[in-house]
Amino acid sequence: MKVLVTGGMGYIGSHTCIALHEAGITPVIYDNLSNSSIRVLDQLEKITQQRFDFVEGDINDSAKLAKTMVEHSIEAVFHFAALKAVGESAEQPLRYYQNNVSATTTMLLTMAEVGIKAIIFSSSATVYGDPKYLPIDETHPISSTNPYGWTKVMVEQILEDNCKANQDNLAIALRYFNPVGAHPSGLLGESPNGIPNNLMPFIAQTAVGRREFINIFGNDYDTADGTGVRDYIHIMDLATGHVAAFLAHQKDAGFLAYNLGTGEGYSVLEVINAFEKSSNKQVPYKFAPRRAGDIACNYADASLAKQKLNWTATLDLQAMTDDSWNWQSKYPNGLE
Ligand code: NAD
Ligand code: UD1
Repeated sequence: MKVLVTGGMGYIGSHTCIALHEAGITPVIYDNLSNSSIRVLDQLEKITQQRFDFVEGDINDSAKLAKTMVEHSIEAVFHFAALKAVGESAEQPLRYYQNNVSATTTMLLTMAEVGIKAIIFSSSATVYGDPKYLPIDETHPISSTNPYGWTKVMVEQILEDNCKANQDNLAIALRYFNPVGAHPSGLLGESPNGIPNNLMPFIAQTAVGRREFINIFGNDYDTADGTGVRDYIHIMDLATGHVAAFLAHQKDAGFLAYNLGTGEGYSVLEVINAFEKSSNKQVPYKFAPRRAGDIACNYADASLAKQKLNWTATLDLQAMTDDSWNWQSKYPNGLE
């Protein structure tokens, strides 16, 4: 079976291609390379001994999408392609709504045109806005605090409406908590452009000497050590979660949403400590004021995925920092 992986050259999409391949599902990658390197394809080949089909294209380009879907006899779409920087989304909201919402609608129309009925969508725990209670389950109210988050809320709504109107369609929204880590080979991982917004790549770049120290945003939260707590999930667990969701619902229809997290929270200081152990290096840090928009604590109720998908995260924080360091030390500047 062949599936289209939009954004498959990016961080999460590329690791999911490995998990798909291992499950006997053939990924065809469709990506405009706006936030990824063509060298990902070589790395995927080194890991899987397989050269995946790749089409350089934009999901706004309906004609190219349709041609790709038909030529490869695509049966489902794993939709990762999106812009993802929260701060940037507040500065350029229209660009985010265009790329993440309008282009997704274009793609859904194209899927309908060529008769593809199943989509697995990269959503985010950001759709829960400020948590009203913890752990967060899938029935928690939906909202957002920034345009990026609203694009995820909107696409989920579009998928749900589309499934209501077309009762043989399947849409699964996977709400990721905080994806981190890298493939255990060290050949593939996350390498953000510019200054990383997220914690783990910032720590990794500090440990490898690219940055002098890390700012810890707030040490006065109501948490055990005062620093923010998040549900970090290993990228390979996240990847197998996609495969589990797809296989469990292959014969189903309707709109479904699942949290993909571990259900456990770790503080910024705990992550730094684990990273120091993995790298055998000191990670200098300074306490800085809270970052605007941050919350104290966030972690998933991951029981629905366990129950319905027979999937659960298996890799712990030490595996996340071990693999992150393995990748960062092999490729200190990413693949460029
Ligand atoms: P990424 O930037 O590494 O990957 C996204 C890929 O999509 C890139 O390769 C980019 O070139 C491509 N792309 C973007 N717009 C495109 C377009 N119009 N046409 C074709 N290709 C396009 O990001 P990621 O971290 O792998 O995230 C993947 C998905 O998961 C995104 O939808 C993101 O919003 C979502 N998500 C990510 C996180 C996270 O922490 N990384 C958390 C929750 C949800
Ligand atoms: C952020 C996004 C969220 C997105 C997620 C993707 C914001 C407000 N939220 O979540 O929408 O879905 O990334 O993974 O941007 N931290 C530091 N120093 C740093 C970086 C982070 O102390 O240099 C702290 C943060 O305050 C937080 C924790 O580390 O407590 C995790 O931060 P981050 O990796 O940015 O993820 P989120 O804020 O959870």
